[in-house]
Amino acid sequence: MNAPFRLAALALCATAFGPLAQAQSTGPIKVGLMLPATGTFAALGDMIEKGFKLYVQEQGGKLGGREIQYFKVDDESDPSKATDNVNKLIKRDNVDVLIGTVHSGVALAMAKAAKDSNTLLIVPNAGADAITGAMCGPNIVRSSFSNWQPGYSTGVVAAQKGYKRAMTITWNYAAGAETVKGFTEAFEKGGGKVLKDLNLPFPGVEFQALLTEIAAQKPDVVFAFFAGGGAVKFVKDYDAAGLKNSIPLFGSGFLTDGTLEAQGASAQGLQTTLHYADNLDTPRNNAFRTSFALTYKANADVYSVQGYDAAQILGAGLAAVKGDLGKRDALTAAMRKVTVDSPRGKFTISPAGNPVQDMFLREAKGKNNEYRSVAVKALADPARGCKL
Ligand code: PHB
Repeated sequence: MNAPFRLAALALCATAFGPLAQAQSTGPIKVGLMLPATGTFAALGDMIEKGFKLYVQEQGGKLGGREIQYFKVDDESDPSKATDNVNKLIKRDNVDVLIGTVHSGVALAMAKAAKDSNTLLIVPNAGADAITGAMCGPNIVRSSFSNWQPGYSTGVVAAQKGYKRAMTITWNYAAGAETVKGFTEAFEKGGGKVLKDLNLPFPGVEFQALLTEIAAQKPDVVFAFFAGGGAVKFVKDYDAAGLKNSIPLFGSGFLTDGTLEAQGASAQGLQTTLHYADNLDTPRNNAFRTSFALTYKANADVYSVQGYDAAQILGAGLAAVKGDLGKRDALTAAMRKVTVDSPRGKFTISPAGNPVQDMFLREAKGKNNEYRSVAVKALADPARGCKL
């Protein structure tokens, strides 16, 4: 082939197959980070991004042999803007994989858009049960938890401690409702009774009337789901209302994760369950925390672990196909088959795409949520409604 003809043929190929061929095997992998950068979950989004980028950096900036290029959208934890926001990444930026998000309602819209467009999605926090339940799909994997998991494991612990009468308190949205449901399922199976579920709109922090109701009812234990800025205010208000010393406060670990410094003395001694504890004394966790602290001059938390593991899961998929996104079935299969060597401890991914993982009882001490015991070993979400 003479040179001009070869150039023309190449140009033709580039027009006909260029974007597709490029997206599949050469050039950078386009990663769309859809996370909150503002609002009550802003700090959580930041930690997820830091964790994700730390793993990529540790791999020399490449996964499956390919550079990573980031695109970002602030989802503001606002479900009403979620479809428009995710479409900026899918349609405008043409990303290869979506990473997001924190808020369950926003993540449900992301999962729908990912399914409709067959875009890969890794969920690095939001626990909405349906994402690895009724909406499950081969292109969707979660590196975090289902809302049912921390709720259920806290219910197991509260019942084991002998509490009989509980009240629950949370925001009125998917994560709150589903976490409370998981708690209630285990607590009542263990012989307890939930007297009343209290809630307020997300992301409200007007807790006073609800705390007054708790003080009046005097349950044996209170179970709370709050996170981020809202969790800081709730834990302080619970203490200021004089309840901390009279009615034990339990929660899923988000109540005290990434928030301890801001909560000060009010959080000290609080017991929660979660799939991570800061001081897990394993070489893997110690190396991760050291690397995180050196890179960011900050302490790692559960959100950074989930971001780090999202990158590990993507990395496992891309390694299996040597970076060739065209080998979609092999890539998604490898993302599910992986045993993730996580700072939380090794975990596997269920057929529905959710971590099967140990849930720990922790206690807030100083700046750490310290490990106390395994609350439930290798807890798998029931994946209700998943037909994979
Ligand atoms: C959620 O909306 O699913 C959610 C948000 C923050 C958390 C945990 C779950 O810390």
